[in-house]
Amino acid sequence: MSEAPLLKVRDVSKFYGQRIGCKEVTFDLWPGEVLAIVGESGSGKTTLLNCISTRLMPSTGSVEYAMRDGSIRDLYHMGEAERRFLMRTDWGFVHQNPADGLRMTVSAGANVGERLMAIGNRHYGNIRSTALDWLTRVEIGTDRIDDAPRAFSGGMRQRLQIARNLVTGPRLVFMDEPTGGLDVSVQARLLDLVRGLVNDLGLAAIIVTHDLAVARLLSHRMMVMKDGHVIEHGLTDRVLDDPREPYTQLLVSSILQV
Ligand SMILES: Nc1ncnc2c1ncn2[C@@H]1O[C@H](COP(=O)(O)OP(=O)(O)OP(=O)(O)O)[C@@H](O)[C@H]1O
Ligand SMILES: [Mg+2]
Repeated sequence: MSEAPLLKVRDVSKFYGQRIGCKEVTFDLWPGEVLAIVGESGSGKTTLLNCISTRLMPSTGSVEYAMRDGSIRDLYHMGEAERRFLMRTDWGFVHQNPADGLRMTVSAGANVGERLMAIGNRHYGNIRSTALDWLTRVEIGTDRIDDAPRAFSGGMRQRLQIARNLVTGPRLVFMDEPTGGLDVSVQARLLDLVRGLVNDLGLAAIIVTHDLAVARLLSHRMMVMKDGHVIEHGLTDRVLDDPREPYTQLLVSSILQV
């Protein structure tokens, strides 16, 4: 890991009128680090993820990002075009529902290739061969390259969404319940796949999940949220094996259904 954080989140709060979405969240994320955000339904996980990834404007707070060239940028004061470019190239966002992250009516190959074109690739043969390579990496048969994702199963759609996000070599990937809609056997394989890719590519990732087993498998560090607040934050093994907060103890002992 390098000496400078990739992301510096400071006092990020989001209010929906009187209601708290998330409140005064502060943390650093280091290059190559995987952070899990856990907590029960309505605790503010998605709100926080959307604020950090600039999909949502927070009410207060700041997020700084270390760009590839080493410069530090304040994400909430970045121009719209530059922010969009960052989201298309340096970042990935994997939605719980693949339909939100894919174009369902264009081919699998185009779903992957489109992101390459967005970063300036123009050579059809190269784009197609890279798309084929990525379909293989996410265990989708190369004979499916011309099929649209609406003809895919839920698990295949999610793997395609992952390929589409990783093909540009992002440095940071956001995931909101990436295995949420899938049945258990499919979840396990997808998690193995994500873990392998994150390790191989040295990606930093922020993964929202209500499933502590997902946090255990994928993350180095975790934050526990309750009512919009981060109530516990630490190395994943420490938090799960020796939770300090009573609420985390309840979560870990499965007394609370999340
Ligand atoms: N667009 C919105 N308008 C008003 N309130 C919202 C909006 N989105 C979220 N909230 C509220 O903010 C709080 C946090 O919601 P959020 O979706 O971030 O929770 P979550 O932890 O992701 O839950 P889940 O596990 O069910 O996805 C909740 O009280 C929710 O009702
Ligand atoms: Mg959510």
